Amino acid sequence: MLQPAPHIEHVKYAIRNIAAEAARLEAQGQRILYCNIGDPLRFDFQTPPHLVEAVHRAMLDGKNGYAPSLGIPQARAAVARSLNAQGHARVTPDDVVLTAGASEAIDLTLTALLEPGDEVLLPSPGYPLYNAVAARLSAKVLSYQLDEARGWAIDVEELERLVTPRTRAVVICNPNNPTGALATKENLLALLAFARRHGVAVLSDEIYDKLIFDEPHVSTGTLADDVPIITFNGLSKAYLACGWRVGWLSFANPKLTAKVAAAIRRLADARLCGPAPVQYAVEPALFGPQDHLPAMMKTLRTRRDLMVKALSAIPGVSVVTPRAAFYAMPRLELPGLTSDEDFVLKLVRETGVLFVHGEGFGQKPGTHHVRVVYLPDEATLKDAFERFAAFVRRWPG
Ligand SMILES: Cc1ncc(COP(=O)(O)O)c(C=O)c1O
Repeated sequence: MLQPAPHIEHVKYAIRNIAAEAARLEAQGQRILYCNIGDPLRFDFQTPPHLVEAVHRAMLDGKNGYAPSLGIPQARAAVARSLNAQGHARVTPDDVVLTAGASEAIDLTLTALLEPGDEVLLPSPGYPLYNAVAARLSAKVLSYQLDEARGWAIDVEELERLVTPRTRAVVICNPNNPTGALATKENLLALLAFARRHGVAVLSDEIYDKLIFDEPHVSTGTLADDVPIITFNGLSKAYLACGWRVGWLSFANPKLTAKVAAAIRRLADARLCGPAPVQYAVEPALFGPQDHLPAMMKTLRTRRDLMVKALSAIPGVSVVTPRAAFYAMPRLELPGLTSDEDFVLKLVRETGVLFVHGEGFGQKPGTHHVRVVYLPDEATLKDAFERFAAFVRRWPG
């Protein structure tokens, strides 16, 4: 029997793993209420037609060969222009790399930065791709706990306790998946002061930056010109095109990241290019009509409010109101609850409601959560929360 490399044992991705059980139940005829996956296209959201047309036209025009490794010039220029419009000052098209989703941008960046044994600070709860890539690189993850009592804010004292001379970078997801939190400017400034003090890079995942409810999003790279900052973004979420695999990374302070940028370019050359025709949608996305966004946020606000109301009414369940994206991370304080993975498995088997266990994203030891995606339509959400409430009332069954 052929054996895999042992360090792959540590590569886990809870979001898809748990869905396998739901697929098994569905194959047996059970109705599943999917509140587990952050793909708006599985629900009643659609890619803006002008983006589909741009890709269609590119394909008809023969743009089906390899793109330049770093991306087509129009797309790189559009990303730079849009970042500078957001308040970045120093990003040129040369400081942008188009990738196969933000996922590949994250992969290239961590690969360029981390030697085996190097450390990276990752948020907990946080998006598990970072942990999976770090495991693949045999890098050491230092998980820092977000502060639930302060709306899942970044706790700089916790970062100070964890950092060592081998720490190369701190990752933030702002807005955050799975909590739906939006960082304040003050919180970001404190994080940047920490990075400055310790000479660590800031990797700022801003893939949900346009999916915000009330407060504005502040891009980390607009707040400091003396800290190495790499930003991730893409078309998957706000432009409703996650299957196209269009993402990018950008260097906010290019002078400070020139050597890492050269390493990332070498890695990018070696994988040839990101998907090509879809890159023709970047400029129309960033500079074309944006009217789908207020419409989407209006719909999401109704769903968020429905969710917060429903969850808050269940004894033993509490939730920090999400400020962005389409996720929430309700807390469970239920007698005898020892494993939230067992909890979500039992929940889906008994009720068909599919959440992801908090442990899949990391959480403070001794606490239990589930991640809820509130993309489904109101009728489905109502049904799901009624079934969930009844399940919790019966708990431990
Ligand atoms: C925080 C975060 N970063 C990155 C990604 C991956 O995005 P992409 O589809 O651009 O690879 C996701 C997807 O859910 C995400 O939640």
